Amino acid sequence: MNLAKRIQKVNPSLTLAIEAKAKRLKQEGVDLISFSAGEPDFDTPGIIKQAAIDSLEKGFTKYTPASGTLELRKAISEKLTRDNQLSYAPEQIVVSCGAKHALYNVIQTLIGEGDEVIILSPYWLSYPEMVTLAGGRSVILQTKLEDGYCPSVPALEKRVTPKTKLLILNSPSNPTGAVIPKELLEKIAQIAKQRSFFILSDEIYEKLIFDGKTHCSIGSLDEQTLAQTITVGGASKAYAMTGWRLGFSASPKPIAEACASLQSHSTSNPTSFAQAGYLEALKSAEAEVINMRSAFEKRRDLMFRLVSGIRGLKAFKPSGAFYLFINISETRLTSLQFSERLLDEAKVAVVPGIAFGDDHAIRASFATSEPLIEAGVARIREWLKKI
Ligand SMILES: Cc1ncc(COP(=O)(O)O)c(C=O)c1O
Repeated sequence: MNLAKRIQKVNPSLTLAIEAKAKRLKQEGVDLISFSAGEPDFDTPGIIKQAAIDSLEKGFTKYTPASGTLELRKAISEKLTRDNQLSYAPEQIVVSCGAKHALYNVIQTLIGEGDEVIILSPYWLSYPEMVTLAGGRSVILQTKLEDGYCPSVPALEKRVTPKTKLLILNSPSNPTGAVIPKELLEKIAQIAKQRSFFILSDEIYEKLIFDGKTHCSIGSLDEQTLAQTITVGGASKAYAMTGWRLGFSASPKPIAEACASLQSHSTSNPTSFAQAGYLEALKSAEAEVINMRSAFEKRRDLMFRLVSGIRGLKAFKPSGAFYLFINISETRLTSLQFSERLLDEAKVAVVPGIAFGDDHAIRASFATSEPLIEAGVARIREWLKKI
């Protein structure tokens, strides 16, 4: 079929496809343990659900302003000041249908034909596809397990050209869980200022940071950095609200206005009563976030300890998010072979690293219960003995 060239260049999301397959097999009764989830296994806290129900009952069922209600944008602006030391006015905030949508809007707004976008690898798989859709070129900067999956400054400097328009950062990272330390963020910001490119900081996992570490938003470093930074966040991972589809971008005003305009011609506002739920989450769900974070941290410790005890696997200890990124080089299998055989022969679902630009690794999500982590990792250990 004669589809537009634009869409012919784009690959469907492999992670969503694997998750869908794992869910389907489970529904068919297969005794499957899935480490493929990209979402918290917790339910959305009750107070958040109740706020959405109340708003529905009050008839909050109509269009809202395309960029989200002023009340919600004010609450996000206050959250950014309080939690992130970022000063964005409500007019600089666009509430979208998930952080993914916010990222898409920003990339469409900033990137055109021939623009270069530096992406750290392993990367969240939608970044390069979004850049391709916008007509830009992804310039991949490989990071290594030995460096804690943080970029080297000279390597970053080498990737910058006069065409560099944007650098995408994602700390804590999906798929590695790496957190970029503040000192390194300062050096990155320095390069962005000297070479005049924007930074798109995807902070969707900001609330899921372990070992007592704190999150640093790169835009908080100084005014000039803020003027070159677009900060993206959302409700999905912090409040277990993935299905609600709520995220936001906070940008310099001209970028925010352009994102708002794009959104006004595509989706219009995110769902009205879902916005009411997010508003409540921002106001009163902090205790729930802390409980979920400490559960994730315990699971991280468990899965890391168990996987580290398996010969042939080398796991990176993540400081954030809910994924263990595991090097499988010693098995001599590609990440796809590893994942497919593991699924068929041991009934454990993981995501092949190739989806994130690293064919020597797999991603195992610990957004699942401790007994399932123990049982699933035991299956992996036994399976590896046989291959
Ligand atoms: C790094 C990263 N950014 C953005 C998103 C999108 O989140 P949302 O569900 O809010 O669209 C995800 C979801 O998996 C993610 O892992």
